Amino acid sequence: MKDKLQSIKEDALSQIKDAEMLDRLNEVRVSFLGKKGELTALLKSMKEVPPEERPAFGQLVNETRQQIETALDETKKKLEQTAMERRLAEEVIDVTLPAKRNHVGHRHPNTIAREEVERIFVGMGYEVVEGPEIEYDLYNFEKLNIPADHPAKDEQDTFYINKDIVLRTQTSPVQARVMEQGKLPIRMISPGRVFRSDEVDATHSPSFHQIEGLVVDKNITFADLKGTLADFAKELFGEETKTKFRPHHFPFTEPSAEMDVSCFKCGGKGCRFCKGSGWIEILGCGMVHPHVFEMCGIDPDVYTGFAFGVGLERIALLKYEIDDMRLLYENDVRFLKQF
Ligand code: DAH
Repeated sequence: MKDKLQSIKEDALSQIKDAEMLDRLNEVRVSFLGKKGELTALLKSMKEVPPEERPAFGQLVNETRQQIETALDETKKKLEQTAMERRLAEEVIDVTLPAKRNHVGHRHPNTIAREEVERIFVGMGYEVVEGPEIEYDLYNFEKLNIPADHPAKDEQDTFYINKDIVLRTQTSPVQARVMEQGKLPIRMISPGRVFRSDEVDATHSPSFHQIEGLVVDKNITFADLKGTLADFAKELFGEETKTKFRPHHFPFTEPSAEMDVSCFKCGGKGCRFCKGSGWIEILGCGMVHPHVFEMCGIDPDVYTGFAFGVGLERIALLKYEIDDMRLLYENDVRFLKQF
């Protein structure tokens, strides 16, 4: 038995010495000290040892176990140390290497302009509302006082999904959707993509963006419209900006107007930028038509309101003095990163 113990000990110590990986070391531990290990088996066969020799033999087994465990622990520490050193050597970082340039993205001029308009109106207490780009003819036209045979429908020819569903030609349908919900008063803007079957040129695109505005409350007058939009123009183009309202026609407002701003390039004297007139056309607006109120379930004898629609690209082009709308859609980073 003693010989057996001696040979187990030698065997174990030599296997521990040879172990090069932690996994292997663990295997050695299990094969000698585990439940079915050799040393454990030896302990189980103690009954073969004469009773008077048992205490001494037991002590010997324990000592051997102790020696094997110590050897295992020491080797484990050594292997862990080498593993750590290897990792440190492999993962060394040379902080003196030149850094890789990180090409961070850039906001599109349209996005910058939209966020600017949103900032201005949110500051005046407006809510930002979204509406669907694929819209019912009902909201895009009918509820905005543009019936099937109305000539305004020709001007806004668009892409039809079927006879009742279109790609919206304007953000104005969001007005009808918000009014229908019946929560009054309303103070909202709604930016978004719109579509028309237009040929691409320097000022047209089959897909562009508008920002709609709508205010509905008791006692809203044309003076509120003028004051609000004049303030908006000053915030957007500078404190010196003057505004002018020209009579116009939109089916869903009465009266309707177009607003011009004094040219922020020449201050109104007339230059190439404003084509000599001193004024730049900027948006359409008007007092919400009583018939539109009725179709959206609001009593026009109690409530009044104003609405407006701004072309987002128009603002981006003016603000950044870009002379061709197509540049906005070409996604040429050299162009986009100037703004
Ligand atoms: N939707 C109009 C267009 O695309 C712009 C517009 C004009 C919107 C007057 C309005 C408005 O809300 O009151 O030409």
